[in-house]
Amino acid sequence: MQDAYKREINYLRVSVTDRCNLRCIYCMPPGGVKLVSYNQILRNEEIARLVDAATLTGIRKIRLTGGEPLVRRGLVKLVSAIRAVPEIDDIALTTNGVLLPAMGRELKEAGLCRVNISLDTLDPALFRSITRYGELDKAWKGIETALDLGLNPVKINTVVMRGINDSEILRIAALTLKYPLHVRFIELMPVGTSDAWAPGRYVPTAEVKAAIEAGLGEMKEVRKLAGNGPAMYYRLSGAPGTIGFISAVSDHFCQRCNRLRLTAEGMIRPCLHSGREIDARTPLRRGAGKTELADLFRQAVLKKPDRHNMDGGWRDEKRIMSQIGG
Ligand code: GTP
Ligand code: 5AD
Ligand code: SF4
Repeated sequence: MQDAYKREINYLRVSVTDRCNLRCIYCMPPGGVKLVSYNQILRNEEIARLVDAATLTGIRKIRLTGGEPLVRRGLVKLVSAIRAVPEIDDIALTTNGVLLPAMGRELKEAGLCRVNISLDTLDPALFRSITRYGELDKAWKGIETALDLGLNPVKINTVVMRGINDSEILRIAALTLKYPLHVRFIELMPVGTSDAWAPGRYVPTAEVKAAIEAGLGEMKEVRKLAGNGPAMYYRLSGAPGTIGFISAVSDHFCQRCNRLRLTAEGMIRPCLHSGREIDARTPLRRGAGKTELADLFRQAVLKKPDRHNMDGGWRDEKRIMSQIGG
């Protein structure tokens, strides 16, 4: 259905857990965040009921996010349950990749279509310091697994931070010359933990794009790449992969917004950057039926703001990025 600004909303990002096996500096504080207790987190059948209800408002595409979605117990069964909702035609997942070698095949067999994997550097020591205790080797094996299993298109998420990993841009962009990977350089957003330090570390897309073209040659815009998100894609001459840019700060892609979010505790969020939420868990656990639940999604669509106001910083006292799922 359309929102108040005539945007067609057909995509739901479902955060399945607030837990994570890494602590990326732009996403979480060193000690993590206070975790939600298990009984507050939606169960698989509850998520499946909400997804089913959301299809009445036109939701067709689902992305599972976290925290780190692969640390949720029963994730494979959740994918199967969503797969069983006939209206859903795309199930994707955003992950740090570490657990993909162990779980990728089962997820694919359950109906997962594709994955987006975080990778901010190809330097093992820097990888450890950005993720606070991750191992590059493990994340890379996750990327190889995704390619081997054909979880295509396999996309890479690189959050660019000045003075931290901006020296890695060419190396990461060059992956697209060797592999059919779709690398997206993401502008650092002031969300939760990164609110205070993001402005000094932020690198605009125009600068990243100019650096790639200076180092690796001209890029041509690509129009057709499966996806529902805000990235704009380009290709280096002869490359099997593509290079995308997610310019949340320098370009207000909000006029193309097509999404709602559902948090792990069952709050529907009309916008990443607005603290406004609609409680779906209470009605769900009270026994609300499909049309009543659909009405909550309808309300959320109608409450979508026209755009974010990131210039004003992060005003949400309740949540940071890992508790929303990006
Ligand atoms: P596809 O295009 O379907 O592959 O997915 P995606 O790029 O939307 O998903 P992903 O989870 O990989 O997100 C990539 C980056 O885009 C993350 O940094 C997200 O926080 C950011 N992002 C996704 N949706 C939005 C949005 O609605 N608003 C803003 N500001 N950022 C978003
Ligand atoms: N700014 C931009 N992107 C972010 N992500 C997490 N935190 C931020 C931030 N502060 C991205 C990561 C991850 C996705 C879910 O969100 O790249 O892949
Ligand atoms: Fe949509 Fe809000 Fe993201 Fe803008 S910030 S694209 S309105 S969810």
